[in-house]
Amino acid sequence: MSTDSLEFQEEKAKPITGQAVSVNMLKGGVGKSLLALNLADRLSQHGHDVLFMDLDPNGHITESLGYHDVFEDPTHDLTNIVIHEYGEFDEYIFPTGWEWDFVPASVKLSTLESELSDNSITLLKKNFTQPLLNDGKYDYIIMDGGGEWSHIAKAAYGAAGRTIIPIPPGDMNRAGFKRTYKRVVDKMPEQMDFKILAIVPNMISEYLKHDKADRRLIESLNHSEQFSRYLPSFARIPSEDWDAIDAGEMDPPKPGLRKNSTLENALEEENMPFGRYLEKQDSVSQNDRKTLNHLDELVRIVEQEGVANE
Ligand SMILES: Nc1ncnc2c1ncn2[C@@H]1O[C@H](COP(=O)(O)OP(=O)(O)OP(=O)(O)O)[C@@H](O)[C@H]1O
Ligand SMILES: [Mg+2]
Repeated sequence: MSTDSLEFQEEKAKPITGQAVSVNMLKGGVGKSLLALNLADRLSQHGHDVLFMDLDPNGHITESLGYHDVFEDPTHDLTNIVIHEYGEFDEYIFPTGWEWDFVPASVKLSTLESELSDNSITLLKKNFTQPLLNDGKYDYIIMDGGGEWSHIAKAAYGAAGRTIIPIPPGDMNRAGFKRTYKRVVDKMPEQMDFKILAIVPNMISEYLKHDKADRRLIESLNHSEQFSRYLPSFARIPSEDWDAIDAGEMDPPKPGLRKNSTLENALEEENMPFGRYLEKQDSVSQNDRKTLNHLDELVRIVEQEGVANE
């Protein structure tokens, strides 16, 4: 891009609101919870009304954010409203100190799991997410759907219709991604208009010049006819650059969402979204700023219903 083009104030396209997004992948430990929480928080920071739903029976985010009592509360049971259409939305929705609302997970997600069936893929949408979006109460609903192929995960996919898929390097994660694609994305009924919004290479730590799993992931996604279109700009490497990288003619780029200890500590130690943690620091490192920018690119991708492909 020439520097001249930066001088023109680009008109920002109007955000497409009224969407639910599940951050999902049928594999544990890939960054679903971390990404979902931070996406919800950044969307809210960009002025949107956001609801975050923890639909993972393990309740990672619910526990991290300090909703332990709700997690253990047998009356916090989404089955009532999702299956039996009984009760008020507000009974399940808790405010947070960050201007977005939260539906914590609870031990009762196991009841919801057993009462949902293969045919109930649209129930969560019909009885919970869609009315809230239609009311205009929320611009976006973000879901952490867990890593198992369960009825709840299916319902989350069905309720969302849009997904963001984090994928770290390594063969197990690649297998998890293939599983996700085959079992979920490919199988969605056509009328659901299901869309991948973005594939996010996550926890990248190596320079690309090394022949390591990190490079194999970034290179194969960039070369994939099927999947490269879902890569955010921070994960893209133009095909002509690979030769230059190998010839040592350019500084090795650092694509993807990097493995970032501040990002991890904000959630696991400080129990807060990354952006809110950074706000409280006296200074912010360049790496952390870059990571925040990447999260904000995901916000734009959600607002525009996908990666902008020229
Ligand atoms: N880019 C990153 N940099 C550093 N740490 C990360 C990054 N992404 C995720 N993590 C950390 O990796 C671990 C796994 O991430 P997370 O819990 O979000 O994965 P998950 O897919 O939700 O796992 P599960 O399937 O168990 O629910 C967590 O400790 C998280 O803080
Ligand atoms: Mg999780």
